[in-house]
Amino acid sequence: MSDAIEYELKGDIAVLRANNPPVNALGHAVRTGLIAGLERAEAEAKAVLIVGAGHTYFAGADIKEFGKPLREPGLPGVCTRIENSPLPVISAIHGTALGGGLEVALGTHYRIAVPSAKVGLPEVHLGILPGAGGTQRLPRVIGAEKAIEIITSGRHVGAAEALELGILDEVEEGDVETIGLAYAQRILDAGLGPRPVGQMPRPTPVDFDSAYVAAMKRGRGQIAPATAIRSIEGACHYDITEGLEHERALFMTLFNSPQREGMVHAFFNERAVSKLPELKGVEPRALKTIGVIGGGTMGAGIAVAALLAGLDVTMVERDAEAAKAGAARVNVILQGSVKRGKLSQSKYDAIMASGFRALDSCDALSEADMVIEAAFEEMGVKKAIFAELDRVCKKGAVLASNTSYLDVNEIAASISRPRDVLGLHFFSPAHVMKLLEVVVADETAPDVVATGFALGKALRKIAVRSGVCDGFIGNRILKTYRSCADHMIMDGASPYEIDKAMTDFGFAMGPYEVADLAGLDIGWATRKRLAPTRDVRERVARYADKMCEAGNFGQKTGKGYYVYEAGKRGGTPNPEVIALIEAERADLGVTAQDFTHEDIQRRYMCAMVNEAAMVVDEGIARRPLDVDMVLLFGYGFPRHWGGPLKWADLQGLDGILADIKRYAMADDFFWQPSALLERLVAAGKTFDDLNKGDTV
Ligand code: CAA
Repeated sequence: MSDAIEYELKGDIAVLRANNPPVNALGHAVRTGLIAGLERAEAEAKAVLIVGAGHTYFAGADIKEFGKPLREPGLPGVCTRIENSPLPVISAIHGTALGGGLEVALGTHYRIAVPSAKVGLPEVHLGILPGAGGTQRLPRVIGAEKAIEIITSGRHVGAAEALELGILDEVEEGDVETIGLAYAQRILDAGLGPRPVGQMPRPTPVDFDSAYVAAMKRGRGQIAPATAIRSIEGACHYDITEGLEHERALFMTLFNSPQREGMVHAFFNERAVSKLPELKGVEPRALKTIGVIGGGTMGAGIAVAALLAGLDVTMVERDAEAAKAGAARVNVILQGSVKRGKLSQSKYDAIMASGFRALDSCDALSEADMVIEAAFEEMGVKKAIFAELDRVCKKGAVLASNTSYLDVNEIAASISRPRDVLGLHFFSPAHVMKLLEVVVADETAPDVVATGFALGKALRKIAVRSGVCDGFIGNRILKTYRSCADHMIMDGASPYEIDKAMTDFGFAMGPYEVADLAGLDIGWATRKRLAPTRDVRERVARYADKMCEAGNFGQKTGKGYYVYEAGKRGGTPNPEVIALIEAERADLGVTAQDFTHEDIQRRYMCAMVNEAAMVVDEGIARRPLDVDMVLLFGYGFPRHWGGPLKWADLQGLDGILADIKRYAMADDFFWQPSALLERLVAAGKTFDDLNKGDTV
């Protein structure tokens, strides 16, 4: 018997105890152990109890085995073998029974859980569908409609709800193995035998076509949820054997799709991204009290994020009135959290009574462990604030700037303690957005970097290390692909075609919808800031400046690329923009070309990949996965592609390089192929090879 399944006979009941830390994933050794344990139990016991050692029941198939040759016994066969056992087989669940874990539990005949347990079929988040009977057995237990909801959302279902739905038979407080044994004994005492879910009546069909269409729309290009619906449909028409075959065929199409690779890349790297080799063994500094300078949208969002994580926050504004307005912003967000049930009234009361204060002097920050400056984006303003912090803050306090573009080295060099300075680039709204760029300046001390990551963890954000450059990882790459989109507009595409092409690609919003939301004045200010140092060969669209000069800043003024009517969601294309674009094309003597959706997507992505490769080559991002996580968590990049550099690997780097060189024939200033991309293509390697430690 494999060590991953411990076997113990307790009276008439054989206990099969999974011991495969950390999450009892159903790897090959576990599957083999389950079959061997079952065989032994059938020779000497009257019932079988399956339970997990450590924190959890099985949290699913072993995702690390994905992409490797499948080794027998496969999970579907294990579940069927359990279901066909002549002995009653009972699952006792604690922690999580997810994916293959819940499928094993549905293969067993009776299920009991502790109240804190969660169950679910989250496979769609890995680009696949439940492939070990989940789409056949779950609908037999809870009906097709509910199964569609649970499988396509992949959500975790709490024990109480699972009991109500019938996924669980009993929920009981106590040690999981003890309650499982007692339940198994009750089943034996009652003379109950096996109760195979596969033999239950087929579920009643629902309107699968409508559900499929809705899932395709919601998935924005992701195919797994809709494919899972077709598999559930099979449960209504086939017996269990045919249904499992149908499920297997659909599972394999997803398993072999690039989307599965993209989703698994995202799963592992969102966990890997904050584990920096250079921080191994480096202890972060103490982090209990935080100062936030600035009570605007960003400052208030940062304050709320910190307060919700249990940190003590002092906000500082330039005068009493501004401090009052900042406090009011924090209050509005927190009250919203209470209304939505995200924050209890008692926690809110405690925060407002002692966790938060807004004042008008930096002197209040003398005891803060960390201060995050979120003031106006201008070097002079930042330097003045840092000089003040240098004067008042205690020794060892971490001094952070939330700048989006400015040179953190210059800020650090302006005070007496540059080793304590770093950038912490939050994304708006800071209490919602998951990404945090931890910007490491030349002099930043390792334990200050570690403290930046510790803050990210406390705030439950995806923290990514970035070096210093204009825009850091994310905004620098954004600037390039936005420029590429602007060039396409000058050459013949419309902003609306570009938005449509990129939402079809899977982005939540197109670049011009985003620009309207963020405010067109932001890009305008950046263009003005960069104008004095701009290379004469750079193509810059002037029509966007004209929109701003006319006072059209996007959603906040009711007009931008789109026109927004009060009370209506979304906008309609603004005809004035098309007129401005056409006038500029006429001025420049440009004849508009046709761009297909595919042309737009390809150019946009090539620009993103090329700049991202430069960012990696320069060491601004240490690994391609850092770029991928920045784009996924800060810029709405579709998760099923894993990130732009994973997307590039999946398309083939040689084709991307060839296209960049083709585009360069018309504009060799913008389209300068990244040297790293050239080296990777020459060596026949991928970006993911670099993630695994390879070099070129
Ligand atoms: N396979 C392999 N490794 C896994 C894993 C899995 N199914 N689930 C988690 N891990 C690993 C993580 O990568 C992590 O490793 P590192 O410490 O090296 O980074 C470690 O286990 C702990 O995971 P978390 O940090 O995520 O721990 P947590 O306590 O925050 O969350 C969890 C635990 C809720 C189980 C979460 O890990 C999770 O959601 N896991 C994925 C569950 C899942 O998707 N299961 C379905 C698998 S697909 C399937 O089963 C297909 C099928 O039908 C055949």
